[in-house]
Amino acid sequence: MLIRGQRFLQRTSLISPNPAGILVVKSMKVLLAFYSKTGNTEKLANKISKSLSSVQGVEIVIHKVVPPQDYKLPYLNPRALKDALSREGTPDVEGVDVSEFDLVMVAAPTWFERPAPPIIGFVEKSRGYEGKKAVAITTSISARSVYAKRLAEKLRERGFDVVGWYSLKKSDLPEEVADELKKLVSSEKAG
Ligand SMILES: Cc1cc2nc3c(=O)[nH]c(=O)nc-3n(C[C@H](O)[C@H](O)[C@H](O)COP(=O)(O)O)c2cc1C
Repeated sequence: MLIRGQRFLQRTSLISPNPAGILVVKSMKVLLAFYSKTGNTEKLANKISKSLSSVQGVEIVIHKVVPPQDYKLPYLNPRALKDALSREGTPDVEGVDVSEFDLVMVAAPTWFERPAPPIIGFVEKSRGYEGKKAVAITTSISARSVYAKRLAEKLRERGFDVVGWYSLKKSDLPEEVADELKKLVSSEKAG
């Protein structure tokens, strides 16, 4: 009986009457913002989007952060190092207004043990995230947990309520992480 009641509550939270009194299904809007220089984070973002698209009632908007002047490889590029060490990240990156989203996922490569500077610039410039739920995701070679923690800290500093953080290797999306993300999205939808 209790289980049926919970299911019923979940369904009602998805349905709301429009002005004409007709019941419409509310969808949950997720922003998935990422930067990628060599393709790993982009591949990962596509995997996450594909995996979340199996959750009913979820709309995913993918936003690729593109700095007006992208960085040149190799790794030890002085401009990349300077911007990675600065608190503001890449100076001329544009942000977005995230207020229309229910959940914001931010995915970044790791540069010099920090989130890549275009993502820091993006987080600095974006607006509307006071109290907004967010998930921090980093890709790297070594997948040290501190990498994602650093991105989570940055998001918290800017007012986000960080509900999950994941430090992943290259473009790998482990099944348990995909499942956790699906659960997060489902619980947001129900909440
Ligand atoms: C400038 C630069 C610095 C990097 N620093 C690190 C690092 O400190 N630790 C690490 O594990 N990987 C590091 N990497 C590897 C990248 O984090 C990793 O390959 C990432 O998945 C690349 O994402 P992308 O293909 O989306 O650009 C670095 C790569 C670059 C280009």
